[in-house]
Amino acid sequence: MSQTQVTVPDLGGIEEVEVIEISISVGDTVEAEQEIIVLESDKATMEVPAPMAGTVAAILVSVGDKVSSGTPVVEMESAVEQRTAEPDTKKTTTDVVVEAAQEKVSAEPEVAPDSEVEVCVPDLGGADAVEVIELSLKVGDAVEAEDSLLVLESDKATMEIPAPSSGKLLAYSVSVGDKVSEGDVIARMVGQQNASKPAAEAKQDNAPPANTEPVPPTTISKPIESIPAAPTSSGKVHAGPAVRQLGRELGVDLTLVSGTGPRNRILKSDVQAFVKNRLQQPSSGAQTMGVVGSSEDFSRFGAIENVPLNKIKQVTAKNMVQSWSTIPQVTQFDSADITQLEAYRKGDMATMLPEGVKVSPLAFVLKACVLALQKFPQFNSSLNADGSELIFKQFYNLGIAVETPDGLLVPVIKEADKKGIIDFAQESAELAGKARDKKLPMDGMMGGTFTISSLGGIGGTAFTPIVSAPQVAILGVSKASMQPVWNGNSFEPRLMLPISLSYDHRVIDGAEAARFARYICQLLSDTRHMLL
Ligand code: COA
Repeated sequence: MSQTQVTVPDLGGIEEVEVIEISISVGDTVEAEQEIIVLESDKATMEVPAPMAGTVAAILVSVGDKVSSGTPVVEMESAVEQRTAEPDTKKTTTDVVVEAAQEKVSAEPEVAPDSEVEVCVPDLGGADAVEVIELSLKVGDAVEAEDSLLVLESDKATMEIPAPSSGKLLAYSVSVGDKVSEGDVIARMVGQQNASKPAAEAKQDNAPPANTEPVPPTTISKPIESIPAAPTSSGKVHAGPAVRQLGRELGVDLTLVSGTGPRNRILKSDVQAFVKNRLQQPSSGAQTMGVVGSSEDFSRFGAIENVPLNKIKQVTAKNMVQSWSTIPQVTQFDSADITQLEAYRKGDMATMLPEGVKVSPLAFVLKACVLALQKFPQFNSSLNADGSELIFKQFYNLGIAVETPDGLLVPVIKEADKKGIIDFAQESAELAGKARDKKLPMDGMMGGTFTISSLGGIGGTAFTPIVSAPQVAILGVSKASMQPVWNGNSFEPRLMLPISLSYDHRVIDGAEAARFARYICQLLSDTRHMLL
């Protein structure tokens, strides 16, 4: 084990840069090339990588410190001797870009006013290709000298390419995501000719930009220290490559992240805090269930009142979202002629009912449903967890949607196949009463195999009820009304009951659904069928 001092690499003539991030802690084990310190000048972000694998023995600088070439920043323990012995042999892309830029400063050409200028990728210090990650302006924008035109990113550095002179941006020759190499034309602008090659000259070459003679870098035509800090507003992202990488990995839009680093630069910790915050946000019951409401401030438009949702409504919301988003559902509409049924219900039947028992059309619908479920057993089934099997239930438990002051509850009539019309009338009234009085036990709402939602007492011609997972179908009942029905010779006034059958299309075909709905209508149209 030997102690190695990691120093700031050659900064290509820049006197000082700032330590903006320390990515390691004392005692950390680091890999060779792992980022340990991030430095920043006004136009470039530089990651200082670990020269070898080892352990961090000491950190010699703090965030905010100004450092120069050769400043020791970290002490590492490793068996392998490294970088300090030969600090100049391996330069980062950024080092070379910065150096090239500095050379450029001393050899700035004569300036010719108002010529068309091609802006090219500067010397990349041997890097093959770098990615365009941001186009900073719009075509046609007026440009000040040194305004950032676009941002390039390599593995280790983010580079802003500034305008070589003031003028107007005519066109970008690249798009975000393009890989560019040294000498590639990246933009055209009209302005004072500076370090770039005039467009006319490029045309005379009659060769594609990438193949032209090495073009002098157009970047950083002033000493770096004098260039103003990169803007951080207008949706521009001020972050180093490692942070951008982290953002991409986590799917974070960095324009939404507030930077807490120098000049509002986004740090890794900002991205982590952003993600943590987003994960913690859905803290209310409804939100964790995937129910997404509005974050809009409606009080801008008028008076509002916020009323918390009770538990029943939150659970209903969760179940609705779950069922709606997981079941591909279709609704089949039909209508039953219940003229005869209603005549019977209100006539002979009413005289024969036990004291206190009231029978609504719902009791007949329940009876028709259980008979239909027995004839079409796939409507009384559930898909297994991986969707590879259908579980046929040999018991028939009918859920009834009941409106209560606290929200919707669905008590279950168990062993429906063993019950008659009067049983259904009594039990549904009793369960609805319990639900409304909050006296329904938890198991009174469990085990349903099929559900009926009746809005017939209220009105409406049809609706599309949501299948309640893991069930595969639900029957909606709307209000019966007198309709002119063609009997082959003439129109007859008939009392028609609209039904809406929503079903899980993974389990049930449309034709089966049509048959199931038709069968229910037949049973309701002639109550004698229910006796068979
Ligand atoms: N067509 C015409 N009239 C109907 C009818 C229909 N389909 N269904 C019921 N009626 C009549 C009844 O006969 C009764 O009339 P009456 O007072 O003259 O006897 C009246 O409408 C009221 O009936 P209701 O009290 O609703 O009893 P019900 O047995 O039909 O329904 C519940 C019981 C519990 C289902 C019902 O009260 C309820 O809560 N429905 C709402 C369900 C719901 O919210 N579903 C939406 C889920 S998303």
